[in-house]
Amino acid sequence: MVGIWIMGNDYRVTSNYYGGYPAGYLRRVRALFPDKQRVLHLFSGKVDVTALPGDTVDINADLGPTYVDDAQTLEGVPLRSYDLIMADPPYSVEDAERYQTTMVRRNVVMRALQRVSKGTHVVWLDQVLPMYRKDAFAIDAVIGMVKSTNHRFRVVTIFRRIDQTVGPTC
Ligand SMILES: C[S@@+](CC[C@H](N)C(=O)[O-])C[C@H]1O[C@@H](n2cnc3c(N)ncnc32)[C@H](O)[C@@H]1O
Repeated sequence: MVGIWIMGNDYRVTSNYYGGYPAGYLRRVRALFPDKQRVLHLFSGKVDVTALPGDTVDINADLGPTYVDDAQTLEGVPLRSYDLIMADPPYSVEDAERYQTTMVRRNVVMRALQRVSKGTHVVWLDQVLPMYRKDAFAIDAVIGMVKSTNHRFRVVTIFRRIDQTVGPTC
């Protein structure tokens, strides 16, 4: 699936958190996946879990996530319990500095996510297509996202885990 979402002129980020999901984003994703049962918000920040209920992972304990963990390892997270992973990493070194973190290595996060069950989707919002293994993930959708004037264009890439035989350290 290829598409584009024009998010409209609603500038609000409900939480006012830097880099928070734009208004309507989680509702759109929810509409794409009516059958998903267990959602994990990775790089969760102050995500609005009323719009898309689920557990949360962030490296910053002050945000009170379900799991305080580094997305590059996710050692404390039972990844196989989830059938939908939402990922919203910092997009640049400058963005990471706003969160007082170092920039994530996207390919390392994707490698950690290889531990999810077959059929699990990863909805990755970014300005970059992360490096991934084609024998571990297929791309089901690419959706361009336009927010409003003076905001960066972004792309939602939707990956599906396709093969459990590829281990996380391959
Ligand atoms: C773009 S914000 C996410 C905002 C979120 N989507 C929202 O709606 O509030 C990125 C988040 O990633 C977190 N983060 C940065 N590096 C991380 C890492 N290595 N592992 C886990 N979380 C990390 C930051 O603390 C920050 O909360």
